[in-house]
Amino acid sequence: MSLHLLFDLGAVLLLALGLKGLSRIRSARGANGLAALALALAVVGLLLEQGLAGWTWMLAGLLVGGAAGALLAYRVPMTAMPEAVALFNGCGGMSSLLVALGAAALPSAAGDGLVLVSLLASVLVGAITFSGSLVAMAKLQGALETPAWMLKPLRHWLNGALLLATVAASVLVLRQGLAGAEALSLGSWLALAAVTGLSLLLGIGLTLPIGGADMPVVISLLNSYSGVAAAAAGFVVGSQLLIVAGAMVGAAGLILTQVMCTAMNRSLTSVLFGGALGVTAAGGAAAEGDAASYSRITSCSPEECALALEGAERVVFVPGYGLAVAQAQHSLKELARLLETHGIDVSYAIHPVAGRMPGHMNVLLAEADVPYEQLVEMEAINPDFPRTDVVIVLGANDVVNPQAKSDPSSPLYGMPVLEVDQARSVFVVKRSLGAGYAGIANGLFELPHTSMVFGDAKAVLQQLTAELRSLGVGQRREAAASAR
Ligand code: TAP
Repeated sequence: MSLHLLFDLGAVLLLALGLKGLSRIRSARGANGLAALALALAVVGLLLEQGLAGWTWMLAGLLVGGAAGALLAYRVPMTAMPEAVALFNGCGGMSSLLVALGAAALPSAAGDGLVLVSLLASVLVGAITFSGSLVAMAKLQGALETPAWMLKPLRHWLNGALLLATVAASVLVLRQGLAGAEALSLGSWLALAAVTGLSLLLGIGLTLPIGGADMPVVISLLNSYSGVAAAAAGFVVGSQLLIVAGAMVGAAGLILTQVMCTAMNRSLTSVLFGGALGVTAAGGAAAEGDAASYSRITSCSPEECALALEGAERVVFVPGYGLAVAQAQHSLKELARLLETHGIDVSYAIHPVAGRMPGHMNVLLAEADVPYEQLVEMEAINPDFPRTDVVIVLGANDVVNPQAKSDPSSPLYGMPVLEVDQARSVFVVKRSLGAGYAGIANGLFELPHTSMVFGDAKAVLQQLTAELRSLGVGQRREAAASAR
């Protein structure tokens, strides 16, 4: 076996291990490193096979791409992660599209049925992924809204016509490409240009009508498409590594899409063809749940909340989208550390779709170095709520809405939620009685053992810490720890 195949094999194995590791909080960070190492091995294997011809281009690509990626990764705020992922997916789609178009210029493209079909698949799926991802990013940023006519059935006809035209142009490419010429004829190139243009339009037509609320599911699906496009490009350039890696990304993206749909209680068909659900550009739903929806709200000050915390033995924090908006993860960690020095058992309840992207809360809390073992997933923590003294809900809303279990008329009905209503006392920290992402009122806020603590999550957490310090919480142990 030649040396480059060994590198390829190592890369595939590490990539598989990396994908597996990403499914667990504890191993996710290391798994990311493994996947990066896999790609580095793949590049070395390719260089061993192909040599260093054109190394200046490779170096320039490495420097420009690496710098752009590093800059983006450092600068992107936590709340804009879904947009960043959309952009990365779009880049993946565009790469496959460009590889396929580049390969079309090679003499080997003409006359080979498998190569031509793969080339067309790569162009079609790559272009849809590229334009669809850019639309998804723009919609999440609030820079693009769904035009009213796109919400009507007309859009299905339009997308159907685009699909038919794309298939017709693809058939032309195939017929002319298989005609036995040495290279693709001018007619084939024109038809290929038409396939590219029509697929780009199709990506826009399919993504534009989808509501900002459903966009993270679409992004996960586009991630899967980028894998499919890469696998097809692998057939075009004869790279087994690209075929395997693309297929893995395609399958992983599809599984994640399914998991997200289940956790949000939505079907993929309703996400893709149901259209926008009256959502605002920022991804939040038009608010129905406002102050007028409630009749029995109890609110309290951070001082009162601090007193309840001081007397608790077991405290569970429930982070949600608002925690990311407030960038309050470090303040939360500081409060939790103070409670622990007071001997209080602290954990964090993690709902699979809290926030706006898969693993959003895990990433947020990892940024503040919250120990992984304190993050408890929904199925594991739900049975523990009845023996929890205090639950602090921090900028979470839909994921703690008890109507999801009890009210068949609720849009959330059937969605698994964190059963915080079972705890002895609940404090909900948010700025107002405004609705969450689903745009509905939350019965939790009216329960007799729930108190609202109105304010920005970060400000409230800092006030709680200051208040507990003024009550002398943790001081003796903190002093003893610093003396040691
Ligand atoms: P949401 O239901 O969206 O509620 C977030 C709450 O945070 C809002 O009610 C808001 O209330 C509060 N908030 C905003 N900024 C705040 C701040 N600075 N300080 C304090 N509170 C603040 O969030 P969730 O409970 O995390 O649920 C996530 C929702 O997103 C679910 O419906 C889920 O299906 C959906 N979703 C998730 C994903 C993924 S993959 N995670 C993808 C798509 C959709 P105020 O305005 O009153 O402060």
